[in-house]
Amino acid sequence: MKAIVWHAVGDIRLEDVTEPKIEYPSDAVVRITGSAICGTDLHFVRGTVPGMRPGTILGHEGVGVIEELGPQVRNFFEGDRVVIASTIGCGRCVHCRAGHYAQCDVANPRGRDAGTALYGGPESTGPFDGLQAEYARVPYAHTNLVPIPPGVTDEQALMVSDIFPTGWFGARLAGVGGGDVVCVLGAGPVGQLAALSARIQGAGRVLIVDGLPDRLETARMQNAETIDFNTEDPVAVVRELTGGVGADRVIEAVGVDAQRPVGGPAAQLLDDRTAAEFEHEREQVAPHAHLHGRQWMPGDAPGQALRWAVEMVDKAGTIGIIGDYPPQYTHFPLGRAMNRNLTVQAGNCDHRRYMPGLLSRIASGGADPTTVITQQEDMPTAIEAYEAFDRHEPGWTKVVLEIAG
Ligand SMILES: NC(=O)c1ccc[n+]([C@@H]2O[C@H](COP(=O)([O-])OP(=O)(O)OC[C@H]3O[C@@H](n4cnc5c(N)ncnc54)[C@H](O)[C@@H]3O)[C@@H](O)[C@H]2O)c1
Ligand SMILES: [Zn+2]
Ligand SMILES: [Zn+2]
Repeated sequence: MKAIVWHAVGDIRLEDVTEPKIEYPSDAVVRITGSAICGTDLHFVRGTVPGMRPGTILGHEGVGVIEELGPQVRNFFEGDRVVIASTIGCGRCVHCRAGHYAQCDVANPRGRDAGTALYGGPESTGPFDGLQAEYARVPYAHTNLVPIPPGVTDEQALMVSDIFPTGWFGARLAGVGGGDVVCVLGAGPVGQLAALSARIQGAGRVLIVDGLPDRLETARMQNAETIDFNTEDPVAVVRELTGGVGADRVIEAVGVDAQRPVGGPAAQLLDDRTAAEFEHEREQVAPHAHLHGRQWMPGDAPGQALRWAVEMVDKAGTIGIIGDYPPQYTHFPLGRAMNRNLTVQAGNCDHRRYMPGLLSRIASGGADPTTVITQQEDMPTAIEAYEAFDRHEPGWTKVVLEIAG
């Protein structure tokens, strides 16, 4: 079968690989009909979330049709349309039962303290072969497959594999409540769906910060008030728009590939000491990254979004961090956060917890996450699509891969 395979930092290929099989009684094999490229995949290819094993199939977003069920999967039929949860839970340990699927004790074969089990991720996450492929093995399929309700399209369901639940989770981590002024950092697909989620969860106003004008433009479809960090100082603008106090809640949806401003007042505020700290942070997380050219470049300011988050939230406010940082990342402005009595919550999304509710909401017309989709590619053009998405080409926000099974 065809699959997108990680070989080295900056080296991914479309290849023929062996089809997966049922390995354990609670596995399923799914014929993937649609997958997508995520900002998280970019961290793996850029090397800013390190530790990938060569030969791993990429991708953790997928919809498809059940091809084969192991004997211990009793809640589906072969031929069912399903969406796959990006993170893998066992469905029976104490953490899964509390809804913390991303902290499952069992699913990661490296042990209970190894971390979140994820398709198409670094060795520490399993590793599990990913979903940018014609077929995929789904462990603990009773839990990690969710049926697609009638009337919900493949594209809508695909957004529920990872990014809509992650946006929803970000708004929950930030504690969004009725009337809150919420600021989302990052207007990528995850940030835009965090803005939608914050709105549904009761936010009074949603502000959103990015440096890419095309993404800020589409974020207005979520009724978000846009701030371009390359022409304005986002901390000053958030304060100005809130009568001098700052946002009640901030959702950080950028992660370790954060960029520094290249123009405007925020660029002028960046002093030499902070710039040197960013260089040190990048060296720490991505010593093997490509630092020249236009392709697979790591972000040049890993801690920028975190620093802005701590400054733009009001005293005693809350920050929810859903942007990805590898375990090696050890920089956070704790002193400022502590002295401003901030609450900070962070994590990998417990996808499975939110997927059924979000699918019902979509089915009833209460939300449509497909507003973030900008490209529909098929497998032969997938590598070029990865490259365009990596370069942040204008108009490339969320790439869906149509997979002819
Ligand atoms: N926690 C989870 O479970 C989970 C799940 C999915 C994705 N993620 C992470 O969420 C993040 C966003 O994902 P995505 O697919 O939207 O990625 P993306 O790369 O498409 O979007 C990131 C956006 O942040 C913007 N940005 C860069 N520097 C910035 C700064 N200093 N301030 C504000 N914005 C800045 C970029 O221009 C870009 O639009 C990634 O880090 C991804 O790994 C986490
Ligand atoms: Zn993702
Ligand atoms: Zn579990």
